[in-house]
Amino acid sequence: MTDHKEFVRELLSRRDRPSRCFLHSFGCQQNVSDGERILGLLCEMGYTVTEDITEADLIIYNTCAVREGAELKVFSLVGNLKNLKKKNPELIIGLCGCMAQQEKNVEKIRKSYPYVDIVFGTFALNELPRLLGTVLTERKTAVDINEYPAGFPEGIRPVRKNGVSASVPVMYGCNNFCSYCIVPYVRGRERSRRPEDIIGEVKELVGSGCKEIMLLGQNVNSYGNTFDERVSFSELLRRINGIGGDFRIRFMSSHPKDATRELIDTIAGCEKICKHLHLPLQSGSDRILEAMNRKYTAEKYMEIIEYARSLIPDFSFSTDIIVGFPNETEEDFQETLNIVRRVRYDNIFSFIYSKRTGTKAAAMEDQTPEEDKKRRLQELLRVQREISSEGFRRFIGRTLTVLFDSEEKDGTYSGKSDEFIIVKAEADASVIGKMKRVRITEAYNWALKGEII
Ligand code: 5AD
Ligand code: SF4
Repeated sequence: MTDHKEFVRELLSRRDRPSRCFLHSFGCQQNVSDGERILGLLCEMGYTVTEDITEADLIIYNTCAVREGAELKVFSLVGNLKNLKKKNPELIIGLCGCMAQQEKNVEKIRKSYPYVDIVFGTFALNELPRLLGTVLTERKTAVDINEYPAGFPEGIRPVRKNGVSASVPVMYGCNNFCSYCIVPYVRGRERSRRPEDIIGEVKELVGSGCKEIMLLGQNVNSYGNTFDERVSFSELLRRINGIGGDFRIRFMSSHPKDATRELIDTIAGCEKICKHLHLPLQSGSDRILEAMNRKYTAEKYMEIIEYARSLIPDFSFSTDIIVGFPNETEEDFQETLNIVRRVRYDNIFSFIYSKRTGTKAAAMEDQTPEEDKKRRLQELLRVQREISSEGFRRFIGRTLTVLFDSEEKDGTYSGKSDEFIIVKAEADASVIGKMKRVRITEAYNWALKGEII
């Protein structure tokens, strides 16, 4: 790979001005994190990063395939790039990520968007220098969607937008094959990063002032399963908690079937780990959970919640829910609402089921009318709004730790509490990147407001 990198660097250095790259990642944080590493790789080859797509020499869309909507959006954006390419025939356009990994999409790109120069899948990030070299010299479309066994190359310095909070992948891929989900098909089997590599990256980030580490994986709870000598995710968390410095630790996602008491004990016992867990429920109906191949029941799920709350009564939970899975009845949906009411989540990410070709669920006949699905989504959102606005009131009068990261339109500053709730306060710009104690004075249904003390 080094030779290809040097080759591209040499080609770019002959230009009379710096070459600029623009990259946008769609979808989950794992994909955003891949995008940061791709930018790192591009910078090593001599590109500089631009946020202005019209001045870019190289445009890359790092795509998501988890729902149809995400795919349609990318195709529409790629359609728009035709004009930019007309104005600047030297422009290089690349597509990568989960959508690019699928043969059917590669065919569609070749046919309908022939001006796309590079297509590479989630396994071929190491190959980007070679693909770029080909396009820069031969001006022909370069495609690589092979399933290379190696994970992402270590030793690349990711280019992160935000210096305050950083994502650190701990594993790639997924072995779970939930029946609705395309991820195992486009990201392959689980591969864990070595603990030394993860800890080294966290130490470096904390040393450079980062205050929040988000550990990422499709199912972090099966971290280390592929090692000869197993290091569990809880063990990894404890080691990271032992790193000196003032920072906090988050992680996602946790599959409920693998969320153990040890994990909850670790969260409770480690001062740097936020007392918040993102625990995707998907459905509260055992019948649907089985059809989804989730391997837990609603009661098993509740056991984790109840155990966590027995240790920390205020333990915060968020979740993902799919409504309208094939043949979900009104009764199934009511069971989902039941769990939502029992858990009292602080936040829910809810989605209408989207059929993904190649998954098991895609072959299931679906009787549920589209209007019912839409109505269920609205109903779920309404119930959750009530729960969060009532739940958020429990914080009034209390003091939360907030890591400030942005300025709001109304001139206040905001950040996230340990519970992963947005908190606003009157402050000045010096507060950004700092953890502050905030006494909560008001609760909205999407955020809290308070005074810095
Ligand atoms: N349709 C709708 N939502 C989906 N998700 C995954 N696959 C699908 C699909 N086919 C949701 C799940 C997952 C989140 C990242 O996206 O809730 O937890
Ligand atoms: Fe998809 Fe299930 Fe794997 Fe999550 S755990 S990425 S929902 S297959």
